[in-house]
Amino acid sequence: MTTVFVAGATGRLGRLVVDSLRRRDVEVRALVRPGNTEGRKAFAHDPAIKIVEGDIRDAGDRLTRELEGVDVLVSTVFGDAESVIDGQVNLVRAAEKAGVARWIPSDFSLAMDRLDYGENDLVDLRKKAGDLTRGSAVISTPILIGAFLDVLNMPWYGWIDWETGTFSYWGDGDQPVDFSTYADTAEWTAEAVLDPSSAGRTVRVVGEVLTLKELHQAMERGSGRRLEARQVGSVEDLGAEIERLKAVATDPMEYVLLQYTRAMVSGKGKLGPLDNHRYPGIKPTGVEEFFRQATRGHSAP
Ligand SMILES: NC(=O)c1ccc[n+]([C@@H]2O[C@H](COP(=O)([O-])OP(=O)(O)OC[C@H]3O[C@@H](n4cnc5c(N)ncnc54)[C@H](OP(=O)(O)O)[C@@H]3O)[C@@H](O)[C@H]2O)c1
Repeated sequence: MTTVFVAGATGRLGRLVVDSLRRRDVEVRALVRPGNTEGRKAFAHDPAIKIVEGDIRDAGDRLTRELEGVDVLVSTVFGDAESVIDGQVNLVRAAEKAGVARWIPSDFSLAMDRLDYGENDLVDLRKKAGDLTRGSAVISTPILIGAFLDVLNMPWYGWIDWETGTFSYWGDGDQPVDFSTYADTAEWTAEAVLDPSSAGRTVRVVGEVLTLKELHQAMERGSGRRLEARQVGSVEDLGAEIERLKAVATDPMEYVLLQYTRAMVSGKGKLGPLDNHRYPGIKPTGVEEFFRQATRGHSAP
């Protein structure tokens, strides 16, 4: 039986990855941080999930012991430099000592390999973790998926406002953009875990590629609601807005979402060539269907 250690198991993607692995009869070791009682409860029902209490920044050899006998390490952690850089490097060093063959880093982004340092503060953390673990005996399989629809649909993202019925977009709306869901990403992750030929390759998988004009139409069809499309500005205007915010921000979160938007609407973050054909068993959710499900129960205005 395959054994997989999941760091970040209590997070949004991590929980789905654990479910996808269990559906494939994989034995899971789920890392749960001390004090996260809700996280523990989520896995308590399944004897094939071993709860490992700890933090990826833990020093000493406890992580190594817990990684012994593991075939693949999956990281879906999200956080600051201490977790994403220092923590993931610490985890890979522990996995090296334990003899783990492969790992999937917590990348799950647009084409971060095409972005330069300085273009996106959160992508920089993941790029740095990748640079510091390159050459490790634990072979990496980064998975890139574009943008999560589940996140874009949040009002705080600034694109879609169901309250006011508006869709705000930067750029001309004609640049193709990659969209995926958390649930499909968990399925692809489980497939990559069970696919030894993915070792040392970047897996690029996407639910659907649409321009923002097409996204707008798909959202309207799926939700059954009209959304007024408002162009906020050009890609150049977006760059200037990011620089303006950077100069006054007290927290990178004040501009990092716009940095993701810039990578999407400029085309620099576009993925290709895609590997969807390697995992034909996965039929990803299209954008229209995603919004049909996401807005179900909300009455049309
Ligand atoms: N492409 C996109 O549009 C997009 C959007 C969002 C996220 N992402 C990426 O998707 C991945 C998963 O994100 P998510 O939304 O699932 O994040 P999330 O819900 O915030 O989950 C993060 C997980 O990491 C764990 N964690 C953080 N620091 C840790 C540490 N030091 N030791 C052990 N565990 C630690 C958290 O534990 P606790 O539960 O104890 O806090 C949690 O389980 C990340 O790589 C993120 O960058 C991509």
